[in-house]
Amino acid sequence: MAAPSRLLIRGGRVVNDDASQVADVLVEDGAVRALGRDLLPPGAAPAGLRVLDAAGKLVLPGGIDTHTHMQFPFMGTRSVDDFYQGTKAALAGGTTMVIDFAIPQRGSSLIEAFETWRSWADPKVCCDYSLHVAVTWWSDQVKEEMKVLTQDKGVNSFKMFMAYKDLYMLSDGELYAAFSQCKETGAIAQVHAENGDLIEEGAKRMLALGITGPEGHELCRPEAVEAEATLRAITIASAVNCPLYIVHVMSKSAAKVVADARRDGKVVYGEPIAASLGTDGTHYWNKEWHHAAHHVMGPPLRPDPSTPDYLMNLLANDDLTTTGTDNCTFNTCQKALGRDDFTKIPNGVNGVEDRMSVIWEKGVHSGKMDENRFVAVTSTNAAKIFNLYPRKGRIAVGSDADIVIWDPKATRLSWQLPREPPRGDVYSGGSPEPRELTSSETRIQSLGKQRN
Ligand code: URP
Ligand code: ZN
Ligand code: ZN
Repeated sequence: MAAPSRLLIRGGRVVNDDASQVADVLVEDGAVRALGRDLLPPGAAPAGLRVLDAAGKLVLPGGIDTHTHMQFPFMGTRSVDDFYQGTKAALAGGTTMVIDFAIPQRGSSLIEAFETWRSWADPKVCCDYSLHVAVTWWSDQVKEEMKVLTQDKGVNSFKMFMAYKDLYMLSDGELYAAFSQCKETGAIAQVHAENGDLIEEGAKRMLALGITGPEGHELCRPEAVEAEATLRAITIASAVNCPLYIVHVMSKSAAKVVADARRDGKVVYGEPIAASLGTDGTHYWNKEWHHAAHHVMGPPLRPDPSTPDYLMNLLANDDLTTTGTDNCTFNTCQKALGRDDFTKIPNGVNGVEDRMSVIWEKGVHSGKMDENRFVAVTSTNAAKIFNLYPRKGRIAVGSDADIVIWDPKATRLSWQLPREPPRGDVYSGGSPEPRELTSSETRIQSLGKQRN
C-alpha cells in the first residue's frame, strides 16, 4: 500500500528560533500546509492522512550541517562516508540538510568541480544538500567562474584556504581578490584560517625532534597559528567590506578574535563544530596510536580542556553563529598512512550524526541556551546566511517539511551494539530504515564517552 501523502504532526511544541508554541503541523507534498491548534477534531483521521502524536515532544526545523566532506579525495585517499552513508547518518541524528564542498585541484575549473561533486551526490543523498565551492587558485578564469556559479548554479558561498601549502593555500593577495569577487557577486566568503607557512615550518621542526606521532600535529600548529590567520582574514575581508564566515573555529583564541571583530561591528560569523564543542585535543596524547590519529584534523582540537565549554558559551551568546561538523571520516587503515609521520595522517573527524545531540546535551541540557537558541545555531542561522530561509530553518506555512520530532527527555547510548534508536525522529519523506553502523558511529567514541 502506498504511504499516505499527507501527515499531521499532532500536539507537539513547535520551536522556531524566535518563539515556541504548542501546535499541530499539517504536511502535504513535502511542505508545511497548515500550522495551528486542533487542526483535526479528536478521533477523526481521513483516509490518506498519517497522524503522528508529538505530545510532550519538540517539533524542530531539521538541522542544517554547514560543513561536511563526503567521499572527499584528500591526502592520498578518500573520506569513507560517501553521500549515502553520510547523509543517512545525518538524518539519523536530526540533520535534514548538509552543505558539502566542491574542491577543485589547483589550475582546474571550479564549475567542473561543482558538476563532479553533484554527480557523486545526486544519485546517493538521502537528505537535502548543497555545495560550497572552494577557490584553490586564482586567475581571471576563476573570477569569471565564481560569477557563473553564483548567477547560474545557485552557489552562494566560496571557501578559501589559508593552510595546505602548495595544495589549496591562497596568498594574502589572492584572498583579497577572492573576497572582492565574493563582495561583487553577493556570495559569502569562507576561510579555513590557519597560517600554512608556520604549519610547514612547525612540522619540519617536530619531525627533526623525532616527534612523529599524532601529538606532533597539534604541537606544530598551536592556537596562535589559527588566531593569527583568523585576524588576518578578517582584516583582509574588512578592507573590501566583504562579510566573512570562519569555518571550523577550534580554539579559544580564534573564537575571541571573532567575538572582538563582531564587537567592532564587522560582519563575521564563526562556526564551531561538533568535535570542538564535544571534546578536546588531549586525545592526541592517548597511548593508543589509532585513538589519537582519529582525532587528527585541521585546525586541531585544542589540548586546553576548557575549550569546548568556552566555545559553547560563545555559541550561546551569539559571538559564534552556526554549527557544522567538518565530517570527513577516515578508517583506521586510512589513518595508518601516517603511522610513522603525523603529516601524512589524513585530516578529518566525524560528527554528522552527533552534532544535534552534542549541542543539546552540552548547550541546552547544561542550561547555557534555550530551545530557541538551539534551533538558531543548529538550523536557522545557517539557513539565513546561506540564503535558504525561510524555506529551511523555520517551521511555518510554506516552509519545506524538514521536521525533526525531538524527545527532550530521551537519552542516547549509541556506543555499544545493539544501538538504541536515535534521539530524534526525522520526517523527511519517511523514517530511515534500520541500518548498519556508519563510520560516524564507530569513530566518534570520545564524544560519546564524554556524554555517558
Ligand atoms: O581536517 C580537516 N578539516 N579536513 C577536511 C578539510 C578541511 O580543511 O576542512
Ligand atoms: Zn578546512
Ligand atoms: Zn572542512
